[in-house]
Amino acid sequence: MARAEWGSRLGFIVAAAGSAVGLGAIWKFPYVAAQNGGGAFLLIFLMIVCTLGVSLMIAEMSVGAIARKSPVGAYRKLGGKGWSLVGYIGVLCGFLILSFYSVVGGWTIAYLIKTVEGSILTADPGILSKTFDSFIADPVTPLWYHALFMGVTAGVVLAGVQKGIERVSKYLMMMLFLLILVLIARGLTLEGALEGVRTFLSPDFSKVTATMVIEAMGLAFFSMSLGMGCMITYGSYASGETYIPNSAASVIGLTTLICFLAGLMVFPAIFVFGFDPSAGPGLTFITMPAVFSHMSGGQFFGILFFFLLFVAALTSSVSLMEVVVSFFIDEFRFPRMATTVVMSVLMFVLGIGASLSLGVWKGYTLFGKNLFGILDYLSSNLIMPFGGIMVAILVGWKAWAVVSIRLMRPDGTQPLWLPLFKNFCRYMAPVLIFVILIQNL
Ligand code: PHE
Repeated sequence: MARAEWGSRLGFIVAAAGSAVGLGAIWKFPYVAAQNGGGAFLLIFLMIVCTLGVSLMIAEMSVGAIARKSPVGAYRKLGGKGWSLVGYIGVLCGFLILSFYSVVGGWTIAYLIKTVEGSILTADPGILSKTFDSFIADPVTPLWYHALFMGVTAGVVLAGVQKGIERVSKYLMMMLFLLILVLIARGLTLEGALEGVRTFLSPDFSKVTATMVIEAMGLAFFSMSLGMGCMITYGSYASGETYIPNSAASVIGLTTLICFLAGLMVFPAIFVFGFDPSAGPGLTFITMPAVFSHMSGGQFFGILFFFLLFVAALTSSVSLMEVVVSFFIDEFRFPRMATTVVMSVLMFVLGIGASLSLGVWKGYTLFGKNLFGILDYLSSNLIMPFGGIMVAILVGWKAWAVVSIRLMRPDGTQPLWLPLFKNFCRYMAPVLIFVILIQNL
């Protein structure tokens, strides 16, 4: 049977961007950047995205486009039998990510409801922080939302309506983009906003540490959906005419832009209203309501914001679920329905632990991290960089012959950057990632 293809080049970019743009850009980027002091972190993040991010995006999409298989099969086809292990690890990574991703996805629904009720439309940092802290520490309520988010994700995958969602999400993402611009405009016109902009944009290199570099790298992998095979899967649906480098650059450019804008949206609010920049995973959730409370029609904008954030999260969670589910279908011929249900339940259960680790199970830590932190660290800062090293080696060494052909320009000529890309995949990318990883161990 011919493999399904995206209807158009744009469809392929929209789907890949839908996977990339999500909680990573709008929830994770601002709080990790704030925890790491802003400016210098942003610069390191951008440097990593422009080098590793772009190359690995091209590498992953090419692998998928050539092999026309999901990650495990693609690694096996292009690398050989042993390489399928890299694909297995990617599937495991998707499983780990979705378990806590769904918890945060649940928060977006909960906050949507809180905004409808109007209970969080205040600029009082004390109330907002307390609302968030007591919400995530509650042993029961967040779990319902977590279940709901996981259920919707599974429902979308089961109903096979991804394409339909993508058609709509194109417009919703556009709206999210415009809304973020509006929120930035509002934030910037508040008294004291410039302090936030300065912190976000002006690099203080005395603050650069090894931890900061690995955090930036992990965040780049996470927010671009790299290093775990997701983009291999999307690449496998690209039509033969799709010129991968352009698509890869568009996805990276768009996601980076949203990360940057999310920073510009959150940082001023931190300083205007006096929030703690190191508030952690709650940052976007606690600061944005303060901005809404200072807007006419603030409740409307708040509802829109959390709804669109939910949709952005959903298009990402669907891509994670798809990596996990299609693995079992492709490798073991498991039925789609049963696989989706069983996997969702298992990920939900692991997510329960992640959610409780922010509250009643706070005391259980390993290397100073709770379960939520461990799942996040393990996936973003260890497994995905490992996947990045492997895909770079595969493309630079094992599969270069086929990849170099697939990367020829549509008119058949060789792009000027091709030799550079080859060497980057062969030497620089693996060494760079390895060095950053080692610094931390
Ligand atoms: N990039 C997604 C986000 O930022 C998360 C994700 C990671 C999705 C890995 C798929 C694969 O929300």
